Amino acid sequence: MSRPIIRWGILGTGMIAEKFAQGISLSQSGEPRAIASRNSDKAGDLIQQLRDWSGVNHSFDVTEAVEGYEVLIGHPDVDAVYIALPNHLHKKWTINALRAGKHVLCEKPLALSAAEAEELFAVASEEGRVLIEAFMYRALPQTTNLLESIRDGLIGDLRIIRTNFTFNREASPHDARYQAENGGGSLMDVGCYCIDFARSLTGTEPVEMNATFHQHELGVDDYAAGTLAFPNDVLMTFTCGMTVTSDQTAHIAGTEGRIEIPRFWFGEEGYSIIRLDGKTEIIPGKKNASRPVYAAEADAFADVVGGAENWNPPENTIGNMRVLDALQK
Ligand SMILES: NC(=O)c1ccc[n+]([C@@H]2O[C@H](COP(=O)([O-])OP(=O)(O)OC[C@H]3O[C@@H](n4cnc5c(N)ncnc54)[C@H](OP(=O)(O)O)[C@@H]3O)[C@@H](O)[C@H]2O)c1
Repeated sequence: MSRPIIRWGILGTGMIAEKFAQGISLSQSGEPRAIASRNSDKAGDLIQQLRDWSGVNHSFDVTEAVEGYEVLIGHPDVDAVYIALPNHLHKKWTINALRAGKHVLCEKPLALSAAEAEELFAVASEEGRVLIEAFMYRALPQTTNLLESIRDGLIGDLRIIRTNFTFNREASPHDARYQAENGGGSLMDVGCYCIDFARSLTGTEPVEMNATFHQHELGVDDYAAGTLAFPNDVLMTFTCGMTVTSDQTAHIAGTEGRIEIPRFWFGEEGYSIIRLDGKTEIIPGKKNASRPVYAAEADAFADVVGGAENWNPPENTIGNMRVLDALQK
């Protein structure tokens, strides 16, 4: 398997667009070729900011500011498009980019429903292009190693998973997270990580699902709590929220011990193993300043384009969307 060089085009100029652009420049395989905004000044400003920040492996000297997403996806020098837009725009721009012959890495959640996700993967398959939902922690070897160790009995038989993903930011009607019609709400924004994480741990799909939502005055759930039951005797609880003090910890409990992981969704943190006899082992994180999470994600995407096994295959994304669909009902 060879890792190809990927010339990236980014749609959007928001928070995660900037972080992923930095990741591309620190990756071993990515070149930041173009950034598109609905307004080219915004793309130009972001590129200037990135030049001031300056990456290590690839600079932003040749990165082009593009006005209009359509122009970027038609760009002849772009191999893959990273979609960093609000959730309701993922479907349209994923389809357009795939039809234009580009590979696509799209932010989570890939779509607004499982049916939409299925449609997107059907287009990717028709076009012979890679489409991956950007749950970046799945791309990291430390995640794969931890999942394998748990399946191999690190804490005995897995019994209970508790995940919490909350943050507290000012609510705004201009933020798509607070626009119900645009796929907003805490479940779609961060609860999706909790569900994905539990499914990856159990390697199965839940058979029972319940959630209770707190409704914000702007019309979306600003926090929520839920339970899932998996077929292999594992129960899971989750809480998520956008107006709640930040806590992003996962607790994984088995018959012989338990594990606590801060910022479980990020993949880079260390974790503690607390054994039945009370002994605690601290496993340090593998933070790599020169190749952080988003750089590793860009490289892992390039690997899949080069023929490696997909670290977040379509059936996983569709399975996660099915759970989100069911909980929202
Ligand atoms: N993987 C992660 O770690 C992570 C972290 C945060 C967010 N996300 C995901 O990334 C996506 C974007 O989140 P974000 O936090 O980066 O959002 P954001 O800061 O609000 O940026 C979204 C960008 O989308 C463009 N846009 C196009 N139509 C828009 C509309 N109607 N309303 C608002 N913006 C619009 C804007 O760029 P222009 O105006 O320049 O066109 C804007 O800068 C979401 O799907 C989110 O779930 C992932």
